[in-house]
Amino acid sequence: MSYLSVCGLTAGYGPVRVLREVSLDVERGAVVAVLGANGAGKTTLLRALSGLLPGCRGEITFDGTSLIGRRPERIARLGLSHVPEGRGTFPELTVEENLAVGALLSPDRAAVRKDTDRMYELFPPLAERRRQPAGLLSGGEQQMLALARALLSKPRLLLLDEPSMGLAPMVVRQIFEVLRVVADDGLTCLLVEQNARLALEMAGYAYVLTVGSITAEGPAAELAGDETIRKAYLAL
Ligand SMILES: Nc1ncnc2c1ncn2[C@@H]1O[C@H](COP(=O)(O)OP(=O)(O)O)[C@@H](O)[C@H]1O
Ligand SMILES: [Mg+2]
Repeated sequence: MSYLSVCGLTAGYGPVRVLREVSLDVERGAVVAVLGANGAGKTTLLRALSGLLPGCRGEITFDGTSLIGRRPERIARLGLSHVPEGRGTFPELTVEENLAVGALLSPDRAAVRKDTDRMYELFPPLAERRRQPAGLLSGGEQQMLALARALLSKPRLLLLDEPSMGLAPMVVRQIFEVLRVVADDGLTCLLVEQNARLALEMAGYAYVLTVGSITAEGPAAELAGDETIRKAYLAL
């Protein structure tokens, strides 16, 4: 069985069903993308995986443990780290303090210091602003902070919700370069993106979500070359 295995997942908000029978797999060490237009259900999918949606049906298994019906804290403790849409940093806390939250569960303070320094190396703007409240950062810096905080929790599976959203191309490139580095280091990542071009460059395998159902899947390079996908998602 795959590291993350989603089978026949149906989920939504109360009576509103958003995801219908979604199945997907993420192998250990892989970056898998889920592409989809605005409103397709990408955020809903990540929220279901994180245990934030009551009443999900189907199967979600991570490294042999079933996640359906588990509480979000429990799922986080299994090593799933979710960087939500809109980033979710603590605006009144400084950059440094936000990063400390990411490393809260780690007892080894020396290792935490070393890992934090590594994040400042990967994201130089965060180092410059380490004593400023997160609320004063630009959108790109907040995305960097949210990603750095998630990485400091040493995730076994990173769930990334549209890291490129609302950001200037140059900042997006910076963030995806860091993602490349950590992915090459072996991070397992499920990336949801409207920006199909970026996501297909980053991922090895990808799924297309269309109004709550998976309508296409394949190796990223193949999807990037597919005429229908190119027309619908790559604006070519
Ligand atoms: N809290 C909510 N309550 C009811 N419907 C919602 C809620 N959040 C999202 N939806 C609906 O679920 C669908 C999928 O939304 P979402 O998962 O946010 O899509 P995406 O992230 O792909 O843009 C949309 O039709 C949206 O209106
Ligand atoms: Mg979304």
